Amino acid sequence: MNIAIITGASAGLGISFFHSICRRHPRLDAIWLIARREERLQELAKDSPIPVVVLPMDLTDPAAYDALAAKLKAENPAVRVLVNNAGVGQLDNIVDSDWPTQARMVDLNCRALTAVTTVVLPHMEPGCGTVINVASIASFAPNARMTVYSSTKAYVMSFSRGLREELKARGNNVLAVCPGPMNTEFLAVADITGRSPMFKMLPYSDPEKVADRAVALAAKGRAVYTPRLFFKFYRVLAKLLPHSLIIKLSKT
Ligand SMILES: NC(=O)c1ccc[n+]([C@@H]2O[C@H](COP(=O)([O-])OP(=O)(O)OC[C@H]3O[C@@H](n4cnc5c(N)ncnc54)[C@H](OP(=O)(O)O)[C@@H]3O)[C@@H](O)[C@H]2O)c1
Repeated sequence: MNIAIITGASAGLGISFFHSICRRHPRLDAIWLIARREERLQELAKDSPIPVVVLPMDLTDPAAYDALAAKLKAENPAVRVLVNNAGVGQLDNIVDSDWPTQARMVDLNCRALTAVTTVVLPHMEPGCGTVINVASIASFAPNARMTVYSSTKAYVMSFSRGLREELKARGNNVLAVCPGPMNTEFLAVADITGRSPMFKMLPYSDPEKVADRAVALAAKGRAVYTPRLFFKFYRVLAKLLPHSLIIKLSKT
């Protein structure tokens, strides 16, 4: 049984990944969708051209990783695509915030992504499987007022590059996707809506295009995908200039 697994599939970019994988991997036997809002996942399952397995899970709860491991052991599928997409942000100075809000970003964006990948990899056959990790332009340099978020995405980028090297000999690719702003629930959940001049100024990306290109590039063996020329330029700038300078430009 060949499957894809998508985390954070109940909204935004996760739904777009679902659409793209249905189009580009039509011969999959099933797509496993993970998020907390079960009814949203059931909605996607209704019209899906590929059978969907709905896995309602809170990925900040370590019990979810054991439950996923047990399900994989019981069904023993071959995972062709793993999309680690679930993520959360928060716009605030840390001094004005509380620890559960800040730690939640580390739990979901870093710990869950690491645990899910570790649990899934033994079920990915050498030579035919890819991992797509959703990072962000925030991974290129620290963003004040989104300090923890940008740190978690720097982790995602570093984890993806390291894992890609580890899996090279095995023939499995790892792609880090680094989108700029997209009009999804993320902006409201992260308290960004109406509170960030930077987010008002930046160009936005279409989640459907981002997901579709990511799925295509992952299969071609690419390491990093940054949508839009503007952000490709920013990525180069963040490599060339000292972060003490970039941090002044990248304040959210
Ligand atoms: N939108 C942007 O501007 C932007 C820019 C760059 C990068 N990104 C990244 O893109 C990815 C997708 O974000 P999005 O824009 O699509 O945001 P979104 O619309 O808020 O979707 C986030 C997804 O993550 C799931 N999720 C949140 N907490 C979870 C938890 N504890 N356990 C399991 N699933 C959880 C949500 O489902 P439930 O609530 O149902 O659990 C939802 O499906 C994230 O990694 C984000 O950091 C977004």
